[in-house]
Amino acid sequence: MDFDLKTLGLAGAAGEKTDALVVLVTQGGVAGKDALSQLVAQALKSGELETKAGNLLQAWRSSGVAAPRLVLAGSGEGTGAQVRSAVQAAVGALRSAKLRRLTICLPAQAGDDAVRAAIVAAADASYSYVTTKSKGEGRKLQQVTIAVANADAAREAFEQAAATVKGIELAKEWANRPPNYATPTHLGDAAKALAKEHGFGCEVLGPKEVAKLGMGSFMAVSQGSEEPLRFIVLRYDGAAKGEAPLVLVGKGITFDTGGISIKPSAEMDEMKFDMGGAASVLGTFRAIAELRPTINLVGLIPSCENMPDGRSVKPGDVVTSMSGQTIEILNTDAEGRLILCDALTYAERFKPKAVVDIATLTGACVVALGGVRSGLFASDDELAQSLQAAGDAALDPCWRMPLDDEYAEGLKTNFADVANVAGRAGGAVNAAKFLQRFTTAYPWGHLDIAGTAWKGGAAKGATGRPVGLLVEFIMGQQGEPQPKPARKAARRSGK
Ligand code: BES
Ligand code: MN
Ligand code: ZN
Repeated sequence: MDFDLKTLGLAGAAGEKTDALVVLVTQGGVAGKDALSQLVAQALKSGELETKAGNLLQAWRSSGVAAPRLVLAGSGEGTGAQVRSAVQAAVGALRSAKLRRLTICLPAQAGDDAVRAAIVAAADASYSYVTTKSKGEGRKLQQVTIAVANADAAREAFEQAAATVKGIELAKEWANRPPNYATPTHLGDAAKALAKEHGFGCEVLGPKEVAKLGMGSFMAVSQGSEEPLRFIVLRYDGAAKGEAPLVLVGKGITFDTGGISIKPSAEMDEMKFDMGGAASVLGTFRAIAELRPTINLVGLIPSCENMPDGRSVKPGDVVTSMSGQTIEILNTDAEGRLILCDALTYAERFKPKAVVDIATLTGACVVALGGVRSGLFASDDELAQSLQAAGDAALDPCWRMPLDDEYAEGLKTNFADVANVAGRAGGAVNAAKFLQRFTTAYPWGHLDIAGTAWKGGAAKGATGRPVGLLVEFIMGQQGEPQPKPARKAARRSGK
């Protein structure tokens, strides 16, 4: 699906050759004297159209409107969140119409937030997974035109959002794929293909190389599986060679049965989404490859299955992590932290500016924050602040959680340096405290996306989160702008 951006008022939008025209209407109404503005004004006056975000009024072949379908969509005061609701409702309502082209006319006063929200929401509401359906039809919508009062002013926000959509959709695609279509090997191949297509570096390590690195904790999780593990290293170099990179680490458990500490059967299929962190790292690289920020970025993805087997790691086994710390594995279902800790140690070699891991780590985080905000943990206040602000700006929000040392008490054991689980209480924090032991060499952030990476129930599917947050965060981390392209210089001074 392609997006384009045009300077168009309602009068101009009415003349657009498109299959449907969506007009976002805010509380202030519209000012124009043209036919479409008059129609909107009358609809408001009659009470048939309400400006509460998400309210719709649809028409067919309205006089003076070239598009056969017209949807007026209330969008409140025009905030990003309200524009998102409006576009989601409008594009959702048009889904069955199988349109190819759509024009979304934003309110005259719409800012960057509205532009970005409209693009991300239009993509989300028209997304369709097809890869493993024999008659998958896929998305018909091919062209979405965003009409704004001043396209030049909105260009930068537009481009970032359009690139973010590509990243979100790649993340959704990989997270949605069934676990037999998204093995560690498949993920490694996808990373290589992505790097080749978009011109960044990629190295995929297998069991032998990982053993050589001494990643005993990662290997322990993988040892019950027939599928060989993969350790994926991605590199995007947009800044000078010597500049310290940002490192993203994504949990890539392609299926989490729990291992010997096996999970109950109900909804176990959803544990195919346990590589949502890995998918978000791939998606972020997809977006960054397009946006080419002046930053160095490394992506690390430890990927394996967590299976019960005669060879599986057992509760009580003690393993030696790459850091040298020994770990007593008391619960084989707390496997995410076991693969992440070795990747976090590996990250040290890049002398990073900061490391952010992204993981569907704990059911406890779902209990704490539900599906609205991801859990954010950070050893560094400035990093926490930047991540939180990026999440708010991208409408992909997170919420900071504590890291008091008292939470680490439960991880003590008589048989190793640390245990991989503590009690049930404060489970999301206990997990973060475990990870923190491996991050003393750099500022560290951790996003627990267990509640936000996918939706269950009838709308079961990956959300592509937190690609929006990560792209926004990375774009804000650029150093001194280079002379070209000029729009990046403008962005830096405006932030
Ligand atoms: N992948 C799960 C976390 C998860 C569970 C995400 C449910 C989304 C929904 C993780 O590997 C896990 O199993 N965590 C355990 C940890 C526990 C054994 C300390 C959990 O949360 O139950
Ligand atoms: Mn688990
Ligand atoms: Zn897991």
